[in-house]
Amino acid sequence: MPELKSLRENFPTLSADDAPIYLDNACMTLRPQSVIDAVGTYYSKHPSCGGRSIHRYANQVSQKMADSRRKMASFINSPSAEQVIFTQNTTNSLNQVAKGLSWQERDIVLTSDREHNSNLIPWLQLEREQGIDHRVVTSLPNNLFDMEAFEAACADAGGRLRLVSMPQVGNLDGVEYPIKEIASVAHDHGAMMMVDAAQSAPHMPLDVQRMDIDFMAFSVHKMLGPSGVGILWGKEELLQDMRTLSAGGETVKWSEYEDLEWAGIPHRFEGGLSNYAGIIGAGAAIDYLEKVGMQRIHEHETKLNGILTNGVKDLQGISIIGPEDAKLRGGICSMLLDGFEAHELAIVLDESANIMVRSGMHCVHSWFRSRGIEDGSLRASCYFYNTEDEINTMVETMQELHSVLF
Ligand SMILES: Cc1ncc(COP(=O)(O)O)c(C=O)c1O
Repeated sequence: MPELKSLRENFPTLSADDAPIYLDNACMTLRPQSVIDAVGTYYSKHPSCGGRSIHRYANQVSQKMADSRRKMASFINSPSAEQVIFTQNTTNSLNQVAKGLSWQERDIVLTSDREHNSNLIPWLQLEREQGIDHRVVTSLPNNLFDMEAFEAACADAGGRLRLVSMPQVGNLDGVEYPIKEIASVAHDHGAMMMVDAAQSAPHMPLDVQRMDIDFMAFSVHKMLGPSGVGILWGKEELLQDMRTLSAGGETVKWSEYEDLEWAGIPHRFEGGLSNYAGIIGAGAAIDYLEKVGMQRIHEHETKLNGILTNGVKDLQGISIIGPEDAKLRGGICSMLLDGFEAHELAIVLDESANIMVRSGMHCVHSWFRSRGIEDGSLRASCYFYNTEDEINTMVETMQELHSVLF
């Protein structure tokens, strides 16, 4: 297995003379040359459509698309490749489920209090438009999942509980949710379980069968893949029954002026010409991640987060969102700043120290607004190509800036 540090050579942005210390991986990761090449090969060698025409270009695209689907299925231990649907992103995947299921008025959907807008807005929209009842399960004060509160919310919802939709790892703070246990409780109450895996699929081994979940959504651009490719995975019988949001080309077996017969999965959900370059690049991203090893990625990021956490946690005016123990926050260190604006500090870090982080509310407005925090947090998020030297530089820079600015 190659040393993680040596893998940096595979990333053009990390090999450049002005290579940044890139700590915005929860938003998007950098891409290795193999993914860039896979995308380039599509455009330079066979820039055609998949699944339709039968000339040589098209056959190559169809073949490579099927390869990507198989690789993705194996990556998450899906029982079949057909259960893997290519979408644009996590948002698109979550919306397909939210709006593809049939709802009755007062059906209950449970989410947590630390949702990315992608797993909140669709439910608020359905609440307004179709009268579902969206309820929020509050976390413990340190942001760990509150199983007791969740069990009480399920019991309170009774027979009206239809779906529990939670992230596996929160993008606000990196805190992991006990998905297998949550899914088991949801199923005991007769509800389906959907997992927003946007922050877990890139960072840890995933197994949809072991977790016994019903739907899962994630984004390939957060795991070395091209922009604008996402995955929706679902249990076969649930996908078979679900309404598609993208009815059109390739989504039917046949159509007449008055009638149609729907195609099976996954095609029913992949209407219209697709982002073929992106889907092929997704396969290259999975090849790369498999070589690095998902468990190794998780351990490395957690270790780096430990160093970062130790270096900033005692700085007056800086507090880390979530539990102090970095092991419970994967590769994410999200800092609240008392007396300095997160956006301003992010700009200073970028311009004076070549360090790229995220600042703001990270699309989790609900959490910040419920606490009256107006300018969000400064979030550093690691990936396997980050080094201890980089994290030490981040810590030293934070300490220096702290002594001058706070
Ligand atoms: C937990 C979580 N869910 C959903 C999303 C939305 O992902 P996308 O913008 O790729 O749809 C993100 C993006 O940061 C996320 O972190």
